[in-house]
Amino acid sequence: MNILTFRSNEELNEAGAGIITGLVQTNPRAVLGLATGGTPVGIYEEIVKSYNKGMVSFKSATSFNLDEYVGIAEDHPESYHAYMKHHLFGHVDFAAERTYLPNGNAENLEQECARYNQLLEDAKQIDLQLLGLGHNGHIGFNEPDHSLVSGTHIVKLKDETRQANARFFDSIDQVPTHALTMGVGAILKAKMILLVVRGADKAEIVQKALQGPITTECPASLLQTHPHVVVLLDTEAGRLL
Ligand code: GLP
Repeated sequence: MNILTFRSNEELNEAGAGIITGLVQTNPRAVLGLATGGTPVGIYEEIVKSYNKGMVSFKSATSFNLDEYVGIAEDHPESYHAYMKHHLFGHVDFAAERTYLPNGNAENLEQECARYNQLLEDAKQIDLQLLGLGHNGHIGFNEPDHSLVSGTHIVKLKDETRQANARFFDSIDQVPTHALTMGVGAILKAKMILLVVRGADKAEIVQKALQGPITTECPASLLQTHPHVVVLLDTEAGRLL
């Protein structure tokens, strides 16, 4: 595991964006696993800047998003479809038919999970999976539990996760109760994982995830078993390491 700590958000964002754009420059057909949440926003901004300077093109790349809420419209500002459009897809040249997100409004959610699994299987392997980290150690929406699911599945969000994400909604009641998420099997199958964490409030979970016991009660701890993980931290998030 390669852990890099940055004094400023700018440096962290540039490093994260540099890794992703560098990959796509050398392999234009790269398959990217993308994440949402507050953490990657600055990285996406840097990617858009590089794209605008003509340094990178995503027209032959493919992307898979980790997760999507169940039951909010795709054009709801807090849906992950809308997030991706707002922060990345609306600004760079990804081909719409090669940007995949789970559909949290599918009539049959089980079938939707199977469809997403099949798409991932057809893509063979994600070259780089970008990940944020939940305060309880979740990755994607794989919440702590006595066992974890390998493939894409429906999850009931933990109260703490809904509380954490309530900042994006008008009130906690509006935060969806369920989501679809890629499973830990698909995440761990990626060739490389880029985990990004910021802020003092995540220092404890960063320490547990990276140095604590490997347990499904902290899904991110499973990343310790992966052969190629790069972790980008700000000094606050890395202060207990
Ligand atoms: C969210 C997402 C995750 C994200 C995590 C941390 O709920 N499902 O993919 O990594 O929680 O979010 P944030 O970056 O906003 O702290």
